[in-house]
Amino acid sequence: MTPRDVVLSRTRLQRPPLVPELELHLADDMDQAWAWLQRELDDGELPPPFWAFAWLGGQAVARHVLDHPDLVAGRSVLDLATGSGLCALAATLAGASSVLAVDVDRYAVEAARLNAAHNDREVELLCADLLDEEPPAVDVVLAGDVFYDAKMSERVQPWLLAAQRAGSRVVVGDPGRHYLPRALMRELGAYDVPTTRDLEGVEVKRVVVYELG
Ligand SMILES: C[S@@+](CC[C@H](N)C(=O)[O-])C[C@H]1O[C@@H](n2cnc3c(N)ncnc32)[C@H](O)[C@@H]1O
Repeated sequence: MTPRDVVLSRTRLQRPPLVPELELHLADDMDQAWAWLQRELDDGELPPPFWAFAWLGGQAVARHVLDHPDLVAGRSVLDLATGSGLCALAATLAGASSVLAVDVDRYAVEAARLNAAHNDREVELLCADLLDEEPPAVDVVLAGDVFYDAKMSERVQPWLLAAQRAGSRVVVGDPGRHYLPRALMRELGAYDVPTTRDLEGVEVKRVVVYELG
């Protein structure tokens, strides 16, 4: 099965509630999709298909960027941990001069590629783990829902701080995850985002967009 087949087999085209401007290949049920993929690909270690959902933090960042295009218009943007590509695609709609979308999961990169093509957007895609390297020199780093577990948070926090020190504006979207370093952030906006009990345990969640520093 090619990565393209994998993405297309468990998703259908849907518009994220907070970002109806974009139509993405998204799944309906995380557990079912994950179990099916592990079985089908015969890989019990396969990470969850994060790329098959528009996470709350990503939706809030994308909405914020679309409502405040000056943040990215004419600027170079990196969407770290892009998943479906949602924030990267929003940045292109808002007029970014270049957008690089990065994820460690090759299925995420494929999902982002398919979503960019479906929405007629141009995004540079990279399947890589940049968190042990110097952050690339970009004007803006977007990071939707990256504080979702302890391991990722431990690595991503110093990296985002390094990006900010190097001159990038760092914009984070977060629905109140335990590992968010709230004290390092200032609030730019907040949104009530419809979600599912399956994914988040509630039907609507307050999601905040922050800037680091
Ligand atoms: C909760 S999802 C968020 C996806 C997207 N930003 C959104 O908000 O919809 C987290 C993403 O982080 C990616 N990820 C995990 N570790 C990473 C790393 N070291 N570098 C880049 N992406 C990473 C996962 O593959 C996954 O796609």
